[in-house]
Amino acid sequence: MSSAKYHDFRTRVIHECQSPADWEGATLPPIYQSAANLHQTAENLSDTFAGKTGDHIYMRLTNPTNQVLEKKLASLEGGAGAVATSSGMAAITNACMALLRAGDEFVTGNSLFMSSYVLFANIFKKYDITARMVESTDMAALEEAINDKTRFIYLETIGNPKMDVPNLGKAAEIAHRHGLPLLVDSTLATPYLCRPIELGADIVIHSTTKYFSGHGDATGGVVIDSGKFNWQNDRFPDLKPFIDRKGPLAFLDKVWREHHINFGTTQAPLHSYLTILGLDTMALRMERHLANAHKVAEFLTTRPEVKWVRYPGLADSPSHQTASGQFNGQGFGGVLSFGLGSKEECFKFINSLKMVYNLANLGDCKTLIIHPYSSQYLSFDEQTRQKLSITEDMIRLSVGIEAVEDICDDISQALDTI
Ligand SMILES: Cc1ncc(COP(=O)(O)O)c(C=O)c1O
Repeated sequence: MSSAKYHDFRTRVIHECQSPADWEGATLPPIYQSAANLHQTAENLSDTFAGKTGDHIYMRLTNPTNQVLEKKLASLEGGAGAVATSSGMAAITNACMALLRAGDEFVTGNSLFMSSYVLFANIFKKYDITARMVESTDMAALEEAINDKTRFIYLETIGNPKMDVPNLGKAAEIAHRHGLPLLVDSTLATPYLCRPIELGADIVIHSTTKYFSGHGDATGGVVIDSGKFNWQNDRFPDLKPFIDRKGPLAFLDKVWREHHINFGTTQAPLHSYLTILGLDTMALRMERHLANAHKVAEFLTTRPEVKWVRYPGLADSPSHQTASGQFNGQGFGGVLSFGLGSKEECFKFINSLKMVYNLANLGDCKTLIIHPYSSQYLSFDEQTRQKLSITEDMIRLSVGIEAVEDICDDISQALDTI
């Protein structure tokens, strides 16, 4: 059955790359839980190593369940191919490392997920790689930071937890003017809300741990290649062998062949299966996440205990206009951040919640809350926290799909205690 006839994302997310005929009629792909694959002849194994058969060799390289997920996610983002990885961080590491050599630079925003910041600012530094960080929404600063050593621009569709939205179309224009690809971590948006490739991005990355699986039951990541960037340019002489082998998918081949395989960032097929299962309800969940988050954001603005709310859906958000232009018109994301009077008030508030879960995740169907300053950013120095807008009074809320009245009631009774 072909999925080409379905145009609406809500249908495609369910039916895309479905192949029950190949799965003994099952409506979900089998979990191929096997570390290695049998070959009938030595010739066939040799041909497979030579890339002539498309058969599987060893789970660290490829796995049939993972391939279903890869095809599905590539298609949903409008990409030409994908590599599924064991976590979102594995996807980010692989995508960046595939392009970086000692002495290289890249340009990124100062609104980054915590581990991405650590990877870029601390770990890459050890290998003489410089991440030039500017205000994520400042396109002029982004362009000014580009020089001869720059290899790519990297942004988040919605910055976590700053909730700012860079103009991806403009960032792509700038990148392409300088012969550079634009890499986008679109975890907080999902392709339901925003498809960066349609706006000009070249590579899209996700933590599938969040909205794709949606139930807090699987970790995973994915690197999706648009197949549109022209790597035959002076900045990328090292891509030549990959262009010779895979043409427009040279970058993805490099990610897979050099990094995914050798760093061992394999996705477990059970996690791919759970993610595929999660995709069946993703559009429905996103619809509710977006509607609930908007209502919760508006509700928070009515409470005197809440000093500020950051959510691109609010008309006074500096990112509202950009988000309105590049999202799908259905909403502005399921995550928001807000401020109370102090760290003590944040703790009191969180400790008073009865339904909302206090944990370090987002994109789950349950509403989740965290005080980033004292948890994910605990070991950061004050200057870095300030740079990343992580303040003591800040709370991050990932709004779930429960009845919004129950979410607001829980928040309301907890606010009453401070
Ligand atoms: C925006 C963003 N990117 C990447 C990641 C990393 O994903 P994972 O935890 O699957 O490695 C996260 C995790 O919270 C995230 O929020």
